[in-house]
Amino acid sequence: MSSEVALVTGAGRGIGRQIACRLAAEGMAVGLLARTRSQLEETAGLIRGAGGRALVTPADVSRRAEVTAAVGAVETQLGPISVLINNAGGYLRKRFLEITEEELDLQFRVNTYGPFLCAQAVVGAMARRRRGTIIFVLGSESRGGPALYAAYNASKNAQRAVAEAVAHEFMHLGVHCATLDIDGPVDSERVRSAMPGTDPSHLVPPAAVCDEIVHLIRQPPGAWSFAVDLRSFVQWRPRAAAKKPGGDS
Ligand SMILES: NC(=O)c1ccc[n+]([C@@H]2O[C@H](COP(=O)([O-])OP(=O)(O)OC[C@H]3O[C@@H](n4cnc5c(N)ncnc54)[C@H](OP(=O)(O)O)[C@@H]3O)[C@@H](O)[C@H]2O)c1
Repeated sequence: MSSEVALVTGAGRGIGRQIACRLAAEGMAVGLLARTRSQLEETAGLIRGAGGRALVTPADVSRRAEVTAAVGAVETQLGPISVLINNAGGYLRKRFLEITEEELDLQFRVNTYGPFLCAQAVVGAMARRRRGTIIFVLGSESRGGPALYAAYNASKNAQRAVAEAVAHEFMHLGVHCATLDIDGPVDSERVRSAMPGTDPSHLVPPAAVCDEIVHLIRQPPGAWSFAVDLRSFVQWRPRAAAKKPGGDS
């Protein structure tokens, strides 16, 4: 039996799949949560192929009953969850006047209710065991959001508020909650094809996201980070760059 059990939401593809594989490589047994079973099975196959342990638990993070069932299955079959990575996310980039109420609602269901419900499902037991880490994966727009991100930005800012409140309520009980704000596009085939011509060295390497997550999980209780921003040396969105006197900017 592994000594640590992690639950990773949005583990069917993208960053969540990479995080799940990395935590398994670190020796954790990993519960895989997303809606699409076939994608979770692919992630589980990668983990098991490398000698790790994984459990597929299809669920919608915005539905409490499904989250509760998934957490129950992981705890029964793998053991008590000591790490939760709230990674599942919905993304909407749209002109403000065109965003519908339904789209706003969906952003909040996935990006705010999801992490809220997942944290509620595990944090009580973590506090009773005096041990646990919960990481909330935020996106670029949760600080100083630019145009076109009203719905995504609002829902991620709300997630940040949830994360900070949980951190302050449970830190004294041994539960470490941290936000990991990825301020820029993460390198993937999807991102490269959506941003043709972008220098790949300007994208955030997914392995670096995983490194930071492992670092947060391994921090000693006397020196916990509560908010981490990961940012490429090249900003992806136009910003007013300070002009260097007599030089280029
Ligand atoms: N990619 C980037 O450049 C970037 C940059 C900054 C921050 N982020 C953040 O990083 C996280 C992951 O992004 P990504 O690009 O890897 O996303 P992605 O490729 O679109 O994958 C999202 C994952 O979340 C799952 N998911 C979506 N809605 C769900 C729901 N209601 N219930 C359960 N699972 C759900 C998806 O599976 P199903 O659809 O099967 O449920 C999928 O496994 C997000 O929180 C995002 O905001 C990404």
